[in-house]
Amino acid sequence: MRERLLIPREDILRRIEELGDKISRDYMDKEPVLVCILKGAAYFTVDLTRHLKIPFILDFMSMSKYSGSDSGVVRITKDLDIDIYERDTILIEDIVDTGLTLGYLLRNLRTRGPISIKVCTLLDCPVRRIVDIPVDYKGFEIPDVYVVGYGLDYRERYRNLLDIMVLEE
Ligand code: PRP
Repeated sequence: MRERLLIPREDILRRIEELGDKISRDYMDKEPVLVCILKGAAYFTVDLTRHLKIPFILDFMSMSKYSGSDSGVVRITKDLDIDIYERDTILIEDIVDTGLTLGYLLRNLRTRGPISIKVCTLLDCPVRRIVDIPVDYKGFEIPDVYVVGYGLDYRERYRNLLDIMVLEE
């Protein structure tokens, strides 16, 4: 396996600052619930919150895809601690790929009566999309490559890389 640089750390941090500014403007006078989808989005979420100039509530969810299934069946292994009823909600992901994970999650969370749900992802890989997902805030669009670093893993490795790399055979 070889790693090739795709997005350097300076570009990642600059883009996150821009996203933080935009979210701060869009949610002025509001207090959204930020839902970090573990584990990959943890790094992005923490850095994004450093650039928010609005109050917010941070919460975490954990999902597991049923192994061997690409049906979009997802299991919640850790649910939110807080109730999003009548709250503005922002789901934070490291990557939207097929869209199956967020498709399931959006359907599930909409039944809880939030005022709004938006999606914020660091990486978007639209060519792999199976389920149409409204992506409201996106860091970078990427081609169909295997990416690691900045939270993204290959068998739990590489999450702590500061840059986003392409993993190649
Ligand atoms: C990744 C990523 C998203 C999902 C995106 O999580 O964090 O949750 O896959 O893929 P999809 O659009 O095809 O559903 P992963 O299952 O690798 O878990 P992790 O974040 O804990 O590494």
